[in-house]
Formats: sequence, C-alpha cells, structure tokens
Amino acid sequence: MIDLFREIAESCRLEIPVSHRLPIAIIGAGGIVDGAHLPAYKKAGLEVIGITDVDLAKATDVAGRHGIPKVYSSIDELLSDPRVQVVDIAVPSAAQPDIFEKVANAKKNILAQKPMAPTIEQGLKMADLVDANKIVAAVNQQLRFEEGVAAAHKMVELGWIGTVTNMSITVNLITPWELWPWARDLERLEVMLHSIHYHDLIRWFLGDPTTLFCAAGRTKGQYPIGETRTISTALYAEGVTSVVHANHVNRGGDNLAEYRIDGDQGSIRGTLGLLYDYPNGRVDTLEVNSQVVPTDGWTPYPVTTRWFPDAFIGTMGSVLGAIANGSPLRSSVRDNVNTLRLVDALYRSMDSGVSVTF
Ligand SMILES: NC(=O)c1ccc[n+]([C@@H]2O[C@H](COP(=O)([O-])OP(=O)(O)OC[C@H]3O[C@@H](n4cnc5c(N)ncnc54)[C@H](O)[C@@H]3O)[C@@H](O)[C@H]2O)c1
Repeated sequence: MIDLFREIAESCRLEIPVSHRLPIAIIGAGGIVDGAHLPAYKKAGLEVIGITDVDLAKATDVAGRHGIPKVYSSIDELLSDPRVQVVDIAVPSAAQPDIFEKVANAKKNILAQKPMAPTIEQGLKMADLVDANKIVAAVNQQLRFEEGVAAAHKMVELGWIGTVTNMSITVNLITPWELWPWARDLERLEVMLHSIHYHDLIRWFLGDPTTLFCAAGRTKGQYPIGETRTISTALYAEGVTSVVHANHVNRGGDNLAEYRIDGDQGSIRGTLGLLYDYPNGRVDTLEVNSQVVPTDGWTPYPVTTRWFPDAFIGTMGSVLGAIANGSPLRSSVRDNVNTLRLVDALYRSMDSGVSVTF
C-alpha cells in the first residue's frame, strides 16, 4: 500500500527548488503573516528581504522576530527596491485591490490574500491588471495545497473512486472573531472570510455548479454583525452535488472539521487538524476506500504536513514555479474571480431565500 501511495505523495511535495527562490517582500504584518506565511517560508528556505505595514511598529516587531532585514517605510519604498521580485500581500480585502493595482503596475509578481477583493468587479479588474502587466499572480487559497486535500485530489484524478458524485465539508467550531476587529462590521462574514476556502476547494474538485442555495444565521450576543452559521448546497452537471456546513458557534467544545468525497467506485474522507485546536492544530488525516485500487476497506494515507503553515509553501511555491518555468498556477487570480462569483451567488441566495442559477 505504501508503494501505491508513492505517486500520490510525489504529487503533494511542497519543496521549492533553490533555483526558484526569488526575493520576496511582504505588505501586511498581521497574524497570518506572523503565524503562517513566515514560518512556512523559513521552512522552505525562502528569502524575505523586507516588509511593510500601515502600522510600522508592528512591521518592525515582526521583522525583528523573523530575521527580516528591512522594514520599508511605505509601499512606494518597497516597490522601488529593484531586488523585490515577488510581493506577498496580506491585508484585509477592503484594502487589497488598491495595493494590488500599485504592485501590478510596478510589474512585480504577486501572491494576494483571500478573499482577493470584496466585489467581483474589483476581482475582474485585478485579473485584467495581471494580463496587462504580464506578471504572475495567484491568490493564497492554500487549502488546495494542504497535503491531505491535495492527495485526495490526486486520488480522484487517478480514478480511484470512479466518477465523483458528491463532496461534503462539515466544520463545527468556536471561532474567536474578536481577533479580527476589521471584520466586526462586515455584512458578509462567514462565507466571505472562512468558507471561501471550502467553496474554492470544491471548485477545484468539481468545477462550477449550475445551481446553489445558502441558508445562514446569526446568534444572539455574537461579536460580529455578519452571519456565523452557513449551510450551502450546490448542484452540478450530471446530478453531482456538494454541501458545506460551517458552524462557528459550537459551545460543546467538540470541534470538528471533516470532508468527504464520494464516487461510484469508492470514497475518500479526511479531517483538517488545524481546526480542532486553532491555530496550533493537530495532525490531518486522510483515508480512502476504493474498489478500483482496490483497498481492503478504509485505508489511511500518512499525512506528514499540516495546513498551517505547510500549505503556505504551496501557494508561494506555485507562484515561484510559474515565474521560473511557466508551470500553471493552481490558484490564479483569474481563476479566483469565479470563486468570488460563487461567493456572491451564495450571498444572493442567502439574502433572497431562494436558490440561484450560477
Ligand atoms: N489564507 C488564510 O488561510 C488566511 C487566514 C487568516 C487571514 N487571512 C487573510 O489575510 C489577511 C490578513 O489577515 P490577518 O489575520 O493577518 O489580519 P490582522 O488584522 O492580524 O492583520 C492585518 C494587517 O494588515 C495591515 N494593514 C491594513 N491595511 C493596510 C494597508 N492599507 N497597507 C498596509 N498594511 C495594512 C494591518 O495594520 C495589520 O497589521 C485578511 O485578508 C484575511 O482574510 C487568510
């Protein structure tokens, strides 16, 4: 069985060749850069040459703790540094489109954070800027690189579960929204900031749906004004289905984060360890039950890395690979416009109470 998994494991490798490791500069010195981007880049041997933030004290603190040699006093100063080849943007999405435009027009390659932009129109403009400036640009939907998920995708590609019929993702969490004060007044919260990872992931597996529906709720006394519980269902060609159930108000202390992909000749199931104890997490799991291989019942795949920080090597590695040899991006800005469209359609369904044709 270990031999059988060799091809799968090879396809999920996150190492970045030395020849691809171009100098990176970062805009935004917040929690995600501190806790995931920088630990991932250190693990991958990448060179971060500088950082900036509107809060320069924060940038200085993060630079000091992670050994980043330069704190730029402004984005303009960062962009005027000819050594900078890739700009990693990690600011709230309301601020991202304007920064993205500046960076793209300076012809620097970009890794942008998710959600790429608050609106589809802004996302489309960003995709056009990428083409006009002939740069490489991706969105940090790094769940597509989480080892268990990436292994599951490869198993599906290899036909191990036959034709896929359904994909389900269920998370039951208690989320400390207070960590993101800028998110408190967002009307569009749960799908836009959190479940966007799952909807983007399902797009990677199943493509775009034909019809979708989303029911959402708020809970009395919650900190943010937006929705904190969502259930989204979608229908695809040939009767393929998907469901995302995300509850951030689990007061039972039994966090859960499971996904499942069913096909006509088998099933795959996994867990996202990160969400059992955010942001420390625990190991991810993946199992496959295939009539094609065949496996002897449910067989575990040994996941050896984690969503945080390891998968962040994947998104940056994909940008660096595309610059080095034109390899396709797994999460390009242009592709991500359709994730924004999907998110927007879910909100239209939520607001109207009816299903929406995509
Ligand atoms: N990919 C993921 O899994 C993931 C996880 C968490 C957060 N995020 C995203 O990353 C982004 C940052 O999240 P965070 O958790 O680090 O938030 P945070 O509040 O901890 O940090 C945001 C940082 O951006 C800075 N900033 C805001 N506007 C700026 C501007 N115009 N120019 C320069 N700096 C600016 C702030 O000063 C702050 O330091 C958000 O878009 C969030 O949705 C992604």
